[in-house]
Amino acid sequence: MKDKPIGIFDSGVGGLTVLKEIYKLLPNENLIYLGDTARVPYGIRSPETVIKYSLQCAEFLYKKGIKLLVVACNTSSSISIETLRKNFDIPIIGVIEPGAKTALTITKNNKIGVIGTEATIKSKAYPLTIKSLKDDVFVISKACPLFVPIVEEGILEGAIADLIIEKYLMEIKESGIDTLILGCTHYPLLKKSIKKYMKDINLVDSAEAVAQDVKRLLIENNLLNTRKTENTKIFYVTDAPDRFKKIGEIFLNFEIDNISKISLELEEITK
Ligand code: DGL
Repeated sequence: MKDKPIGIFDSGVGGLTVLKEIYKLLPNENLIYLGDTARVPYGIRSPETVIKYSLQCAEFLYKKGIKLLVVACNTSSSISIETLRKNFDIPIIGVIEPGAKTALTITKNNKIGVIGTEATIKSKAYPLTIKSLKDDVFVISKACPLFVPIVEEGILEGAIADLIIEKYLMEIKESGIDTLILGCTHYPLLKKSIKKYMKDINLVDSAEAVAQDVKRLLIENNLLNTRKTENTKIFYVTDAPDRFKKIGEIFLNFEIDNISKISLELEEITK
């Protein structure tokens, strides 16, 4: 059981920020990543569609015999985590709770900002989770839909990034928060530019928080892989493996091989 892989899925390439942190913290683990590149973005879709796609991604990884599932996509975590937990009998970690908990440990003035895709912000998953953990916290949220395409274009710094950051974050900056959750897989890549604009505000990268949670859960369930040999990293995408490789290598800073293209429409949802 300990040798079995951890499954990670995202709507596309962005979840590699989560894979990268898991790999850094748990280098002995075997990892299988699925990016639903044929149907990205999830962030503009209806809850029904996000749930359907998420079930198909989870089903595909479950059939590969994974010991734990990480929902790296914030949009999918916001909307479908409960449905996934009801349907699969393995531990499932989403990105919302780890990010919310980290923000609560960091904030001094109990004023937290959250940024994410339109679907994540509309779901209110972050404010609801934060308030379920501590009720007297002020939370301000903002969807930043242009951040995903600029990151995928490799625009991480410079005038264009600065202008878009200012457009989206001005109101949040003026609201008096001291902590901002980067509630989308792509946003950690804009960290440097966001930090330049947000100055003294603490940025919470949920990818790091998730990796810590994965480790904790593996230890608790006696599932930690203690082998000393190099782990395997296998990648599946639903479209355009070449583009995934090109953009993915910007995210990871190491070469991606072992990519296969698969079709999820054929995955039967039996549960
Ligand atoms: N992975 C998505 C998220 O973290 C961003 C890209 C998308 O909209 O699918 O919300």
